[in-house]
Amino acid sequence: MKSLAIIGSQWGDEGKGKITDLLGLKCDVVVRYQGGNNAGHTIIVGDKKIVLHLIPSGILHSHCTSVVGHGVVLDPGAFLDELKNVEASGIKVTSSNLMISANTTVITHYNKLLDGQREAKGPVKIGTTGKGIGPAYEDKISRKAIKVRDLLNLEVLEQKLSANLIEKEALFKNLYQCEYPSAKEEAARLFELGKSLAPFVADTFSYLDKCVTEGKKILFEGAQGVLLDIDYGSYPFVTSSSTSYGGIFTGAGMPAGKVEEVLGITKAYTTRVGEGPFPTELFDDVGEKIQTIGHEFGATTGRKRRCGWLDLPLLKYSVKCSALTSIALTKLDILSEVDVLKVCTSYKYEGKEIDCAYPGIDLSKVEPVYKELKPFTDDFSGKLSTEVKDYIALIEQTLGIPVGILAFGPERSQIKFLKEYF
Ligand code: GDP
Ligand code: IMO
Ligand code: MG
Repeated sequence: MKSLAIIGSQWGDEGKGKITDLLGLKCDVVVRYQGGNNAGHTIIVGDKKIVLHLIPSGILHSHCTSVVGHGVVLDPGAFLDELKNVEASGIKVTSSNLMISANTTVITHYNKLLDGQREAKGPVKIGTTGKGIGPAYEDKISRKAIKVRDLLNLEVLEQKLSANLIEKEALFKNLYQCEYPSAKEEAARLFELGKSLAPFVADTFSYLDKCVTEGKKILFEGAQGVLLDIDYGSYPFVTSSSTSYGGIFTGAGMPAGKVEEVLGITKAYTTRVGEGPFPTELFDDVGEKIQTIGHEFGATTGRKRRCGWLDLPLLKYSVKCSALTSIALTKLDILSEVDVLKVCTSYKYEGKEIDCAYPGIDLSKVEPVYKELKPFTDDFSGKLSTEVKDYIALIEQTLGIPVGILAFGPERSQIKFLKEYF
């Protein structure tokens, strides 16, 4: 296998970081192709916990090259802070193991301000991470974004930021009535940060093109999850990028490459951070127990994650719209601690029963139909119990793809491969 994509199949935080780290060991290149530092990918190495937001999770392996593709939005200050943290944990980062596309969109201070003001003042609260993600993608789509290459030229930065500020100033002054830096101040700040970023700026398109030609093993590290996709997700309660499989081809800058395996990282239950519909959400002691023992707190914002049962209609939809070829089932150890076990197998919606959350249905109006299973209490040290096998079998039969990985703890060793990758 030469190429594999890691895709979150739910609402994010499925354990993508851990799986990327483990499979990264076997490949040459790891590419982030969408999102920004709204992501929080946790990797536990011995007694060290490393949370990566923007730097690809391949950085922990010295033989691996980490690439930030042009579909990403990059906050230079946050990136450099993250770099410091990574280096402080003993990892050597150089321009040969970390590359950023010169065409990557920059998150400016204006973007972050707008995100914060909209969330605080409405009218619609999405529950964003407050990192400026949506406004940065707006700038990109409306063709006025600052690109990483611009950080290296003060004159260009001043020109572009001044033009950029014309509309935003009206919002800051009149609508939100908040302080904001002048274009000159913001240009100076970004230019200064650009000096430290410069060694990593590269033509990642040509680099990846060469990797494909040479038959290098490439892993695409998705951020967020399918249900947060700007097109496929639970709009408007989504992020602003293409988190699904399709995002790879535009966001990584690798149009000719073929992705052989699309691995959907799936938590054995469901969680969600922020606002928006969540059909299987639990509001009882079981939900609270899962939240507590699962340490379900956002890795980026520290917010409590909402918890609920596994939702097969949603997963069936994710399999279809992200072309998933197998599943990594994570956090099974948490369900081992719970003495009830339910799975949503279909929804009642507008008088009908449906088994796939196809687009167009209003997820806030569905009534989940549950199948109750015998709970499992496996510690995963030996053979799997019949109960956990039944749980896995139900998932495989419903989704029509195999479960290739079982994860039962945050550490690197707490994993079972049922299928070979790379
Ligand atoms: P990501 O955004 O998809 O990379 O996931 P996060 O890092 O935000 O959240 C997943 C959390 O679960 C992290 O704290 C991981 O260390 C942890 N984790 C990953 N896999 C497992 C697992 O199988 N069991 C347990 N208990 N924790 C896990
Ligand atoms: P990883 O990669 C979970 C959610 C936010 C909010 C919505 C929009 O760690 O799985 P944004 O700041 O992106 O405009 O917020 O998306 N969100 C995530 N939820 N995991 C993430 O990333 C997320 N990134 C964004 O909570 O509901
Ligand atoms: Mg996360």
